[in-house]
Amino acid sequence: MQFTYYGHSAFLIEISGKKLLFDPFISHNPLATGIDVNKIEADYILISHGHGDHIGDAVSIAKRTGASCIACAEIAGWLQKQGVEKTWPMNHGGPISFDFGTVRGVNAIHSSSLPDGTYAGNPLGFVISTNQGNFYFAGDTALTMDMQLIPWWASLNFSILPIGGNFTMDVTDAIKASDFVQCNTVIGVHYDTFGFIKIDHAKALTDFNAAGKKLVLPKVGETILL
Ligand code: NI
Ligand code: MN
Repeated sequence: MQFTYYGHSAFLIEISGKKLLFDPFISHNPLATGIDVNKIEADYILISHGHGDHIGDAVSIAKRTGASCIACAEIAGWLQKQGVEKTWPMNHGGPISFDFGTVRGVNAIHSSSLPDGTYAGNPLGFVISTNQGNFYFAGDTALTMDMQLIPWWASLNFSILPIGGNFTMDVTDAIKASDFVQCNTVIGVHYDTFGFIKIDHAKALTDFNAAGKKLVLPKVGETILL
């Protein structure tokens, strides 16, 4: 699978010719000024929760590309009110079948409301299973015992975990999370963007290494193969 990082928790994964865009907070990210949001293509946009640093540019990208937005029912309803035509409402549970594979909504210990104050339901993580491999995007979450359920649903090739602390897991908790989900390849997200979540990159990499795990910190705009 091809993974392109757009900064913060925004990334694109290409699976069997389908482009899945996650939490596209780009135009207001001070670290993503090199990314032209108007050039990003998507077939699907998956949104973990309603906070502005995740729903970000979802409305404008969905309108321009015609992508289908996959999100909890409350966010899907709000997107419809913003003029997004294609939405797929979901919640914790599933799995739901799409042409790229299946999506399961899993627990995220966090909060959720939309930028205009609208209630946004419960925050989600996603477990994506495909014939090219499986991965877990935790969204914004603290470490939770519920992560131990994930290996029962899917054998993961990689996980995308927040590591910035303050609002989510930090590096230490993300290492424990990778034990819980039984996946030693972690792409770190949700760090450095704001003052509250600045991290020491070298220490993060060393700590993962010492635990026998691999932490990948792609540059903004970088594409990697997984
Ligand atoms: Ni959040
Ligand atoms: Mn966030």
